[in-house]
This record gives sequence, C-alpha cells and structure tokens, in this order.
Amino acid sequence: MMKNYKVRYFDYPLQFRVHEAEYMEIIRDVLSRGAYILGDDTRRFEKNLAAFTGSKYAVGVGNCTDALLLSLYAAGIGAGDEVITVSHTFAATVEVIKFLGATPVFVDIADDHNMDVRLLESAITPKTKAIVPVQLNGRICTDMDKIVDLAKKYNLLIIEDSAQALGASYRGKGAGTFGLAGCFSFYPAKLLGTFGDAGAIVTDDEGFAEKLMMLRNHGRGKGTDIERWGLNCRIDNLHSAILDYKMTLLQGWINRRREIAGMYNEELSGTGELRLPPPADGGSHYDVFQNYEIEAEDRDNLVKYLNEMGVEILLPWGGKAVHQFEALGLGGVNLPRTGELFRKVVMLPMYPELSDSQIRYIAGVINDFYGVRVSAVKTGAG
Ligand SMILES: Cc1ncc(COP(=O)(O)O)c(C=O)c1O
Repeated sequence: MMKNYKVRYFDYPLQFRVHEAEYMEIIRDVLSRGAYILGDDTRRFEKNLAAFTGSKYAVGVGNCTDALLLSLYAAGIGAGDEVITVSHTFAATVEVIKFLGATPVFVDIADDHNMDVRLLESAITPKTKAIVPVQLNGRICTDMDKIVDLAKKYNLLIIEDSAQALGASYRGKGAGTFGLAGCFSFYPAKLLGTFGDAGAIVTDDEGFAEKLMMLRNHGRGKGTDIERWGLNCRIDNLHSAILDYKMTLLQGWINRRREIAGMYNEELSGTGELRLPPPADGGSHYDVFQNYEIEAEDRDNLVKYLNEMGVEILLPWGGKAVHQFEALGLGGVNLPRTGELFRKVVMLPMYPELSDSQIRYIAGVINDFYGVRVSAVKTGAG
C-alpha cells in the first residue's frame, strides 16, 4: 500500500498539471506532423541548448549515459586507459568507462560532495587519458580552475558529467563547457526533465560534434551512407519538442530552487548536527540545486522520523556510492570521505512546485527531531 505522504520527494503529476495544456498541444502538434526521428524540433532544441549552456554545438541523445559513453568513445578512450572520476555519482558515470574497457580511478570527495581537487594530481598516472568531473547536486566542483589546469599540465581530456548541473556556473562559465564535452540528463526528475529519457552532449569542437552526430545515428553522415560503426542513441523528436518548451521555464524553476535552498539554509542553521550545502562563495559559484543534499548526525533515526511525519526523502543512489555496490567488484577502493558521507547523507525534497509551508514543515520536523534528542541527552533520559 502506498504511504500517504504529506510531502512527496517528487511530484510528477503536479508538475505536469501546471503546464498540461501546453504539453498536450506540443504532443498533438508533433504527432500530427509525424515528426518522430531527428526532426526540426531536435535541431531547434539543440541550437537553444547550446546557446543556454554557452557552447557552440549540442547533440541530443537518448539519455546522459549515452552522452557519456559516446563522448568517451569519440574521444578515443578504450582498453588500457585510466579515467579519473568520483564514486559519489550514479553508476552511469563509471559503467561507461568499464564498458569501453578502460579503468575507472576514483578520487575522494570534499565537503562540497564533489571531487576533492587536492587529491587529483596524485591519482594521475602515465595511463590517465581523461578526467570526468561530476558536477553533482547542481554545483560545479569547488576549484574547477585547478581541474582544468591539471588537465592541461598532463594533457588530459575533460568530459564533464553535468547530468545534474544544467544552468550552474563557476566564474561565469556554464556547466558542461570546461573541457572537450559536457553531458546532460533530461531524466524526469532533472532540472530540465522530459516525460521519459533524454540527454545531450555539448562541445565547442565542430569535428567532435559531427562525430557524435554520426555515432548516435548508426554511423550515418548527412545522407544515407553509413560512414563508420555507430549505434542508435538518438533523442526522440517528441522529447526535443517538449524540452525546447520546458527550456523557456527553466530559469524560473532554477530561481525557485535557489529560493527553496535559501529557506532550508535559514530554517536549518540552528542545529549543529547538520552539514548543509556549501554557502554561496562570494559569487564564484552559481548553484542550481538539482538536489538539497545534507549530512546528518543520527541519520537513520532522522530518516525514520521524517518518514513517520509524512516527509518522503531519498538517499542518493539508494544509499551507496558506486564502489560500495559489491557486485561491481570495486571493493578494494578506499575513499574515507565518501564512506563517511554515506553514513550521514540524506536528500530533502527539492523541486520548484514545493510550497513555502511544505518547506517550513520539513525543516520543523528536522528541528524537532534534534531538539527532542538534545533535551533527552541533557536530562540524561533515553
Ligand atoms: C550524475 C549523473 N550521471 C549520469 C546520470 C545518468 O543519466 P541518464 O539517466 O539520463 O542516463 C545521472 C542520472 O541520474 C546522474 O545523476
């Protein structure tokens, strides 16, 4: 039986209802034109997406996993190569490296929950070919400049996993634009989500974009000739049309996410038992809050209490970093900060349709939890 939550972690039906008439009109229009595969809607969406991110080209693909796989493949990553990334990410970031026969090398995370740049240089070996920084939770890695500098110094490619960071920037530069390619996800729960799966790659390199366009479409060039081995990783034209419309709403959604994060920060700053997301740091980071991910003392009991009080929460990736999934055979990896995080981490509801009173309710439940616990300790009870 489905629990009757007061606040859901996501509310897809609510988000649909807000713009239902516009979505239905777009769907009717695309279907009535019979424009299903790589149509004008895809070309228009790619153009608008490239402009939004500050890139020259965008290539729509089936999802962000396709985007990562095709980018690494097109960049020539394969057997014998090492690719540096993090374990606090979705399995997709790492599985594509494994699928290409390359070796993922993990760098631990810092307090911003992204790659700890201080540990990056020592992970580089003569076999390293690329760095895949993950711009998690809608925030670009804290010292992205240093990652770019090290990539230059050691002649490494940067392919960003910016699945969670569309619209985020660092020193005025958009997510996805720091290296050869940036990969985005339009999974329904993402900042810009569609009604199914979709993804895209952005790049400034014309030759690379052309290669990606061929690879996503069975190796076809502009005509019907098959010019190389490829795959079918095309974005659906229907999704392109929906996403192109949703892009007009994106900045408003980002503004609301930032407002919600501000409210959580303010409401939750009174307890010393939480580590909240990094504060705005003098303007160098513009965070878009794909998630509001915090660290909490006594996490498991907090989660239980939130659940009892009708607040649905999520643990990232179901509660495990990639190297902690036993079946993946990465058990020898030692990442102390990532390990610590996964004992404490929890994600609170974060989507533009959340009301102020819902946010206050969630924060109130959390403050109550710690208030009760602190007074119980003080009186020696429990
Ligand atoms: C950081 C990260 N990388 C990659 C992906 C994979 O994206 P997709 O589901 O579009 O393949 C996701 C999606 O959850 C993600 O959050």
